[in-house]
Amino acid sequence: MSFEEQMNNIYPKENSIPAEYRIKEIFQKEYLMDGEIRTWNGPQQEVLSPIYLQGDKGLYPKKLGSYPLLTGKEAMEALDSAQKAYNNGCGEWPTMTVEKRIKCIESFAYKIKEKRTEVVNLLMWEICKNYADSCKEFDRTLEYILDTVNALKELDRASSRFIIEQGIIGQIRRAPLGVVLCMGPFNYPLNETFTTLIPALIMGNTTIFKPAKFGTLLFQPLLQAFRESFPKGVVNTLYGEGKVVIPPIMSSGHIDVFAFIGSASVANTLEKQHPKPNRLRRVLGLGAKNPGIILDDADIDLTVKECLLGTLSYNGQRCTALKILFVQKKIADQFLEKYCAAVSKLKMGMPWESGVDITPLPESHKTDHMLELIQEAIAKGAKIINPNGSRSNKTIMFPAVVYPVTEKMKLYTVEQFGPVVPVVPFESIETPIQYIIHSNVGQQASIFGKNPDMIGKLIDPLVNQVCRLNINSQCQRGPDSFPFTGKKDSAEGTLSISDALRVFSIRTIVAAKAEEANKEILTNITRGRKSNFLNTDYIL
Ligand code: G3H
Repeated sequence: MSFEEQMNNIYPKENSIPAEYRIKEIFQKEYLMDGEIRTWNGPQQEVLSPIYLQGDKGLYPKKLGSYPLLTGKEAMEALDSAQKAYNNGCGEWPTMTVEKRIKCIESFAYKIKEKRTEVVNLLMWEICKNYADSCKEFDRTLEYILDTVNALKELDRASSRFIIEQGIIGQIRRAPLGVVLCMGPFNYPLNETFTTLIPALIMGNTTIFKPAKFGTLLFQPLLQAFRESFPKGVVNTLYGEGKVVIPPIMSSGHIDVFAFIGSASVANTLEKQHPKPNRLRRVLGLGAKNPGIILDDADIDLTVKECLLGTLSYNGQRCTALKILFVQKKIADQFLEKYCAAVSKLKMGMPWESGVDITPLPESHKTDHMLELIQEAIAKGAKIINPNGSRSNKTIMFPAVVYPVTEKMKLYTVEQFGPVVPVVPFESIETPIQYIIHSNVGQQASIFGKNPDMIGKLIDPLVNQVCRLNINSQCQRGPDSFPFTGKKDSAEGTLSISDALRVFSIRTIVAAKAEEANKEILTNITRGRKSNFLNTDYIL
């Protein structure tokens, strides 16, 4: 089949979809608030899949269902519910023993495990992540929850002792911060929502979470597990348009932590609405334009493999994706020939098809936006150098390798977040170094080469610009025990399994002068288990 025919016939007929991947529409009316699954009878947001189907009258987007479009009133109810559950730190959840909180989280993990098939299918239909990566997102999330439990046990064990310093006895533990608003991105709607929600919860905060703009319905199968696993008001779901439901709660001044992974412009608009900025803690994962620097002695095959994964896995829609490649002129032709050949082998199709790499894009008009960026680069002297690059049909687009990209083109600085690979040739290593220095973002970078002298020389300036430098490997968040953060406009706060426990809590001390009477009081409290905070219990 020619590429043309393949592209024209890319979308399936409904009856040709394997039975296990077909989807039943979900008309979700439920939302979780104040410990109840409530029913919404107001307006609904229709959910259309990025996947089109072939019908008698041509292509049509598959309808997946709808979810509640709550209003500012329900948003304030969610806030009220989270505040009541926190009760100025006196609520059941923030004062509960760590051991009991861990039990709730473990029960939640156990319950959601059963929902894997449903959630994986929704990930494929809502955001078009391929089957293998959708399974990985689910499994990685479950693993993250269990690893978080272990990390907290370890942290708790280290805090289960008294310290005596300069005649003062103290016990230092971590206490919660209050009401946390969690908002995840559409590209990892489950995983990246949970990488803030779970640590926020386990540290004793109460939460409101707003599902991402795509990948919303996949939380519906999990609502019961949330309701059954946590005390009333500890988890509240906020469905609806961000610009409607977030401003009222933010401007109330009662959100204590804003955990957000997404674009800087949305984060800035929302956090500005908080009237007491010093009281709002921020945990942000924002934009990135991670460069790959390919030196002239790079192992071409390995570099092609890593750059292919780095630039185009999940269609380039990862915050950690390599979004620009700098290639030293001496090997540019050789690298590009092999890289373009590898791009040509990428399989386009529907997410459930085996071995598929390139799938439809969830954001509306995304292919148009990609084409505009490409056209602008072409008008300024670049070319699409791979066969069929940028050919599209509705929401799917075959990746375009654009070369040579220069600083005059938008693709040089704009975070494309899609299947376009800008490539910049360079002679002097100063070109990529200066690019990184002058970039507004500073998440990660990759260096490909063999010479330890050269790589060593690059490490020192670059580690002060980005937070992870990858040698001969693509940029990535994992393993989740590694710190995930960024400099400049890329992030605020550090996430990893153990760091997340810290960002959602604060070190708090109970201290007393080491006098006999005080020692007796402290001993009495701990032996008699009179406080959940001040205790010497050791969780195994
Ligand atoms: O979208 C950003 C994600 O954190 C990237 O995670 O590198 O594991 O794909 P990943």
